[in-house]
Amino acid sequence: MKKTIVITGASDGIGAQAARQLKAKGHQVVLVGRSKAKTESLAKELDSPFHLADYTDLSDVRRLADELMAYDRIDVLANNAGGIMGDRVVTKDGFEKTFQVNHLAPFLLTHALLDKLIDSSAVVIQTSSIAANIFGLGFDVADLNNERQYQSQKAYGHGKLANILFTRELDRRFRDQGIKAVAFHPGVVRSSFASDTNHFLHYAYHTPLKYLVTISPAQSARRLVALVDGEPGKDWILGEVYDKSMPMKVKFKDDGSVARALWEQSEKMVSGSQVQ
Ligand SMILES: NC(=O)c1ccc[n+]([C@@H]2O[C@H](COP(=O)([O-])OP(=O)(O)OC[C@H]3O[C@@H](n4cnc5c(N)ncnc54)[C@H](OP(=O)(O)O)[C@@H]3O)[C@@H](O)[C@H]2O)c1
Repeated sequence: MKKTIVITGASDGIGAQAARQLKAKGHQVVLVGRSKAKTESLAKELDSPFHLADYTDLSDVRRLADELMAYDRIDVLANNAGGIMGDRVVTKDGFEKTFQVNHLAPFLLTHALLDKLIDSSAVVIQTSSIAANIFGLGFDVADLNNERQYQSQKAYGHGKLANILFTRELDRRFRDQGIKAVAFHPGVVRSSFASDTNHFLHYAYHTPLKYLVTISPAQSARRLVALVDGEPGKDWILGEVYDKSMPMKVKFKDDGSVARALWEQSEKMVSGSQVQ
């Protein structure tokens, strides 16, 4: 069946390759990117519609949601845009940039599209990361803006753990209304990841190292495509996070209360209320 699939972070890396693969399967692919030149170029290549938004500005995300509401249906929303940032920066919205780009902006986008997603019984996919396990263990809803002892990889790990907690809570709240939420780790991928920064991970991913196995963006994209192709509840478990075809063991322990608190704080943040 031909699906309408919205992919954010579609202008480069994993998102661009997933867009190519899904288009080749006959789906309608809706591209969302930050860079106009890169997004437009892929849109031409695939003959696909495109939209632009910079997630460091939540008003851009609201406009993006308004534009996407014009589609008749959204069968899949792949919240894939994200990455590691450099030094600590506070956005014009007043939030730490890594947290905003990786969690708050996709939270807002999903929230703003909820009616459409429910009407479409949509699959909502987050591109998370194993970084949630490596760097994200100190996650604290009382410090979503990463004010305490900022380190870019720690903020990134927190953002990627937030993707997992968001997936669980989205599933808990909206499974009954037809939403199918899932997250995945895309592998260690030789994409443009961290290229905006001088973070060591960018160099590590592009240097042949004995101890680090990397994969191409096209190989990684197959993991996203497998979730789109799979039957929710049969081929993958709702609310789960996957590493390849297996559920990923999440080291951060949560009985559900942290995921709930994150959701509530995020709602306040995107509605402009003061929190913390
Ligand atoms: N590469 C890895 O090893 C790895 C591992 C685990 C998880 N991930 C996750 O995989 C996802 C895709 O990353 P990638 O590896 O494909 O990296 P990439 O090649 O750098 O692509 C990142 C995408 O996110 C978009 N993006 C970045 N900052 C943005 C912002 N402020 N507003 C809106 N869009 C923004 C980029 O847009 P423009 O290009 O238009 O600027 C690009 O389309 C990310 O969520 C990343 O955290 C990657």
